This record gives sequence, structure tokens and C-alpha cells, in this order.
Amino acid sequence: MVATRPGRDAVAATAGPALEVRGVTKRFGGLTAIREVSLRVEAGEVRGLIGPNGAGKTTLFDIISGLTPPTSGTVHLDGSDVTRQMPERRARSGVRRTFQRTQLYGRLSVEDNVLASMEWRGGGGGLVADLVAAPSRRRREAERRERATAVLEACGLADLRHRPAGSLPIGQARLVELARAIADRPRLLLLDEPTSGLSAQETERFGEQIQRLRSDGVAVLLVEHDVGFVMGQSDRVVVLNLGAVLAEGTPDEIQAHPEVRAAYLG
Ligand SMILES: Nc1ncnc2c1ncn2[C@@H]1O[C@H](COP(=O)(O)OP(=O)(O)O)[C@@H](O)[C@H]1O
Ligand SMILES: [Mg+2]
Repeated sequence: MVATRPGRDAVAATAGPALEVRGVTKRFGGLTAIREVSLRVEAGEVRGLIGPNGAGKTTLFDIISGLTPPTSGTVHLDGSDVTRQMPERRARSGVRRTFQRTQLYGRLSVEDNVLASMEWRGGGGGLVADLVAAPSRRRREAERRERATAVLEACGLADLRHRPAGSLPIGQARLVELARAIADRPRLLLLDEPTSGLSAQETERFGEQIQRLRSDGVAVLLVEHDVGFVMGQSDRVVVLNLGAVLAEGTPDEIQAHPEVRAAYLG
């Protein structure tokens, strides 16, 4: 038997890590917020990103998701240079993020927030299809609702589905953001301080979702102040200080790192 796997070889020839940041620098006027930062996250890996306030973590997320261009350096998704791609295009390639300050549609229900995150796939066919409710469109709509229901359940939000998102306390709002970010099966998920404001139980649920995504092959970049949480969730951790990478390694290596202890862990 000859085992040829052309599809797989073709992928291997073009694919790189889910995310690779190469030598990125970002200046705001006279301030260098990010200094020659390189890092990579493989599919199925959780990479922690820690560092004191102002270290540049959110700025790096903005650069990876395309909200702001780097001053120099490049961003690659699955081996393709996306440095000049718009955020919408990157989102279509599977980049999703949550925000340090949650960004939900406050007047929409929890369920509609999640459905809206899948809207861009569209029913297809436009107005005419709406009027005649083409079967393919109805099928897609049913699939979207099924997926939203499953994700709401996984995030512990099923009972809140009809509540306006704006009426929720911060912990639940963060879980809605997570539900929005994962409904569409991301390739790369950027989480910016996801557990701040969460109860112990919500934090545990959040952690379970992160590990589930990881085993589904999602690449996760996790910015987090709760050092215990980030060490428990991550395969490897990057430490940023004053915009530069101070250290990189396994959670054990990072916790034992003398400079990191001095600068950050105390
Ligand atoms: N749009 C901006 N204009 C000017 N300075 C900014 C801007 N965004 C961030 N900074 C600065 O860049 C540095 C890094 O900020 P940030 O990425 O938010 O850090 P972190 O998320 O690690 O707390 C800070 O000194 C911050 O004041
Ligand atoms: Mg930040």
C-alpha cells in the first residue's frame, strides 16, 4: 500500500505556527510601548503573557488583531504575513479577542450578542432569499442558533440568554464576551485579563473553557494579572517588561527566574 497524503503535505509546506510575531516595535510619539518583541503560539497551545501595568500587553494584542499597525516588524498567521491586513480580514481567518473593558451590545440579549458574532457568515442570497426564506438560508440560521445554544450552555449562560447584556455584572459580561469569541470556532484567541471581576466559580469555568479550546487545537494567548491562574493554564509564559521580552519559558521556569521574581513576581 502506498500512503500518499497530498492534502496534508500541501498544508505542511505552507503552514507555520498559528501566530508568529517577528521583531515588532511600536512607538507612540516618543514612547516605545513595544520593543523588538518576537513570540509564537502553536495550534493547541496556551501561551501566557504577563507583565506589570504599561508593559505593552494590550498594545501587542492591538497589533496582532490589526487595530493598530506596528512601527516595524511583522505578524504572521499560519505562516502568512498579515501585517497589512485589516482587522476584519484577520477575524475572518479566525482571530478573536476579548477586551480588558468588555465590548458587548448592551441592549441586545446575551443570545443575540452571540448570534451577532456569527452574522458575518451571512445567510447569503440577500433580500430575495430573506423573502422566500431559501432552504439553505434557513438551515444556516438553524445551525447558528444551535451553536449559540451550545456555547451559552458551555459558558454557564443558558439561564441568562434573554437578559440584555448591558444589565449583567462584570463577571457574567466577561463570560458573554468569551461566548462571542468562541462561537465561531477561532484559530487564535486573544484573552485580555479575562478573569478580572470574576468569582472563583466563574474563573474556574473560564479555565475549563480555555482548556477545552486548547484540546480543540485553538491557539490561545492569555494576558492575565492573576499569576496563579496564568501559570495553571499556560504551556509556556512570556514576560514583558517596559515593552520588551524579559523572559520566556514553562510556568516552572518563569516562577524560578531571578529577574522575573525581582521585577514582577516580588
Ligand atoms: N494609543 C496610545 N497612545 C499613546 N500611548 C499609548 C497608547 N496605547 C498605549 N500607550 C502606552 O503604551 C504603554 C503600554 O500600554 P498597554 O499596552 O496598555 O500596557 P498593558 O496592557 O501591559 O498595561 C503605556 O505606557 C501606555 O500609556
Ligand atoms: Mg492592558
